[in-house]
Amino acid sequence: GNKNIQAKLVLLGDMGTGKTSLVLRFVKGQFYEYQESTIGAAFFTQVLSLNEATIKFDIWDTAGQERYHSLAPMYYRGAAAAVVVYDITSMDSFERAKKWVRELQRQGNPNLVTVLVANKADLESKREVQNEIGEQYAKDNRLLFFETSAKSAQNVNELFYEIAKRLAKA
Ligand code: GTP
Repeated sequence: GNKNIQAKLVLLGDMGTGKTSLVLRFVKGQFYEYQESTIGAAFFTQVLSLNEATIKFDIWDTAGQERYHSLAPMYYRGAAAAVVVYDITSMDSFERAKKWVRELQRQGNPNLVTVLVANKADLESKREVQNEIGEQYAKDNRLLFFETSAKSAQNVNELFYEIAKRLAKA
């Protein structure tokens, strides 16, 4: 295959849920226990080659702190894919993720490929959000769903490959 696709991808979610960590795991294969909080937003690129297409991701990693909320539309406007992240050890972060999903459903691109990501799956002993809760919410809202760990790398590449596949099909 020889389709070349350039796709804007945005990450949204509460502060500290692991947005930057997921991107760094995907783009650089790295993880930092003391990852600094993002200010405003950070930009990354990564290319994924599938049989049917090559996808160049332009990735906007937004800041989760509430005071940056009003900037978010600049980042999800024109996006082909959105990754909404919560932390399985924080029910608050799941509630925040649901708000992002609703905002995207109201304001986002109607063809947006949206993924709900339950991160920090390595912290099972501190889990507050059961897998089934996230999965059911995703199903009800027609979102892709992955439980990931940026720390262990569980499901991180799978998540971005699935998005790439969806974009290649569109
Ligand atoms: P903001 O930039 O403030 O919105 O945060 P963020 O969502 O980008 O989170 P960040 O990647 O900065 O991670 C916050 C903290 O959680 C850091 O100390 C990371 O090391 C840690 N962290 C991120 N992902 C994981 C994970 O999968 N497992 C564990 N155990 N810790 C993680």
